[in-house]
Amino acid sequence: MGKSKVLRQAHRHGWIFGVIGLLAGGFLMVFVPSLTPVANSLFLFAGFHIVGAIVILATLWYGGLRDHFRHTSPLTPQLNFGWDRGWTVGLAIAALIATAFAVVLQVSAPEWWILACGMLLMGASWGVGFILMSGYRHADHAVLPMVDLLSGDSDVVLDAGCGAGRTTLALAGALRHGRIVAFDRFDAAYIEDGGRALLEHNLTLAGLKDRVQIETGDLAVLPFMDASFNSVVSTNVYDHLGSQRDQAMRETFRVMVPGGRFLLGISVWSWAMFAVASFLSFVVLSRRRTWRKLAERIGFTVDGEWMVNGTWFVLLRKPERIA
Ligand SMILES: C[S@@+](CC[C@H](N)C(=O)[O-])C[C@H]1O[C@@H](n2cnc3c(N)ncnc32)[C@H](O)[C@@H]1O
Repeated sequence: MGKSKVLRQAHRHGWIFGVIGLLAGGFLMVFVPSLTPVANSLFLFAGFHIVGAIVILATLWYGGLRDHFRHTSPLTPQLNFGWDRGWTVGLAIAALIATAFAVVLQVSAPEWWILACGMLLMGASWGVGFILMSGYRHADHAVLPMVDLLSGDSDVVLDAGCGAGRTTLALAGALRHGRIVAFDRFDAAYIEDGGRALLEHNLTLAGLKDRVQIETGDLAVLPFMDASFNSVVSTNVYDHLGSQRDQAMRETFRVMVPGGRFLLGISVWSWAMFAVASFLSFVVLSRRRTWRKLAERIGFTVDGEWMVNGTWFVLLRKPERIA
């Protein structure tokens, strides 16, 4: 849990007790005047909590809450990766409806408890899916398991399908001196206005404009020479490529140096994705072994794999010698 969340929870209770005390004391003063001593005690109780909350709040303000508001204020320029709330609210609504339905069913027809239980589980699952998908909007969600991805500090790395730069920023954090090429078709079907303007905005805010070269094109016909990149990163892109998938994988192989590594992050079938897409996830998402087989057919070897924030990452390597 982030520091600011802990801080917010810490002070919230003081205010709640204070307000409850005030309301209860006021109620007794007005409607039951004979209980004035009790009302006075409640006012004291409220005052104690409100003064306490003010002291805690002031301390927290200087201890980091000020930064939290600065980061969430609409007046402060924010990183924006284009994962609009519209992507996630459907899941929140579905979670609420399923949960409400379960409660109503349990109260009105307890003999249907199995159905109520099922609906409650669906509600919880969609709630988890909502939290998971909401995370995609944040920079710190794009944690890349970069173990052994980079061969040195001056690597040239391709972010294939960079979108608005979530992974580009994560990559820049690990690669202090090398060069990053952020490549995308900047397709309006995915990210608002294609994502290029958002990418430039994010790179400027993160102070990375000089270190990242932006290139536009199609992953199936990469406009780069053979062996141009030491490593490649790509998240949530290859699983969207449809019939272009194999060709894009071949192109990625071609532009990598022998011995180079490719960190591929995609949505595959998993419990995390079940929470997002429910039973549809069985149909629309492919299996890990499908991707491993494809990568091996192209010529990669599989060096490792991880689940991070609901995304499956597989680290592929182009052999030093190609048979
Ligand atoms: C779901 S977004 C992911 C963006 C980014 N990697 C991230 O994790 O936030 C998919 C991206 O793939 C890009 N894309 C899809 N098909 C492409 C293709 N054939 N060539 C280049 N980019 C493509 C889209 O423009 C979009 O920016």
